Amino acid sequence: MIQGNRLPRSLKKNGYRVKITEPDNNLEKSIKFFKPNVIFNALHGQFGEDGFIQTILERFKIPYTHSGVIASSIAMDKEISKKIFIKNKINTPKFLTYSYDIKNEDLIKKIKKKLRFPVVAKPLNEGSSVNVYICNEKNIIKILNSIKQYKKVMIEEFIGGREIQVAIMGNKKLGAIELKPKRKFYDYQAKYDLNAKTKHIIPVDLPQLKFNQLMNLAFKAHKVIGCRGVTRSDFKYFEGDFYLLEINTQPGMTKLSLVPEIASYSGITFIKLIEWMLKDASKKK
Ligand SMILES: Nc1ncnc2c1ncn2[C@@H]1O[C@H](COP(=O)(O)OP(=O)(O)O)[C@@H](O)[C@H]1O
Ligand SMILES: [Mg+2]
Repeated sequence: MIQGNRLPRSLKKNGYRVKITEPDNNLEKSIKFFKPNVIFNALHGQFGEDGFIQTILERFKIPYTHSGVIASSIAMDKEISKKIFIKNKINTPKFLTYSYDIKNEDLIKKIKKKLRFPVVAKPLNEGSSVNVYICNEKNIIKILNSIKQYKKVMIEEFIGGREIQVAIMGNKKLGAIELKPKRKFYDYQAKYDLNAKTKHIIPVDLPQLKFNQLMNLAFKAHKVIGCRGVTRSDFKYFEGDFYLLEINTQPGMTKLSLVPEIASYSGITFIKLIEWMLKDASKKK
């Protein structure tokens, strides 16, 4: 899925020659014909964000934006990336994975032993809060059965408190934004529907030391996963502790997206951000 047209419009306005192409059977032809200096990967979600399109793009030997094949696929897998966070002492909510292979009672017992209700059930490799559910002991089985198509899901301890996201831009700790959803949590609607009236707060109200700690955590996550370009890490902040939920290697770049908002607060205009990404794309990683 290509996100909106702000990006190509803004590039064209600034004198760039831009061709929009879908990642379909004509991709190769289109690239060979247009001969771009750089490919801006504006895709989102599975295929565009999980190392798949990156593998295809590698073949053209043309620089492309954001993370490479391996970092993209690691970051897209919440189980693998969380294991790497834990190894690197980056706090992340406790979790277990479930493959629909044990009895319901055993699952409930396991959750009670390892975590505690409420928990959050979510796919390992989705995004946009799609099929993310807060569950209690009563509704969890029904919810899990409703997302059986994933075959394996993550069950994570529910962390209350604040929702804060951090942007990293190469070696620069770009900044953070707090989201205050009016809804139960930062779900799909809270993310994309203006009527849901999620509040965006910049600067984030945190003591300087805590803010630095948060920046360092996101920076470390970016580095240990091996990311390139811009990433956005999603945190919960509860009782003085940060919990990293995930790192996004293809953060949104639309008008409503958070990375452009964070960049703008730190004095980097949208076009400057995009230009940096294009330049950074030529750096192999
Ligand atoms: N363990 C958790 N505790 C509390 N809220 C969570 C938890 N996991 C996810 N959420 C909520 O769901 C949203 C989406 O979860 P996230 O793990 O970032 O997946 P996605 O890839 O869909 O964005 C988060 O921004 C947060 O509001
Ligand atoms: Mg997220």
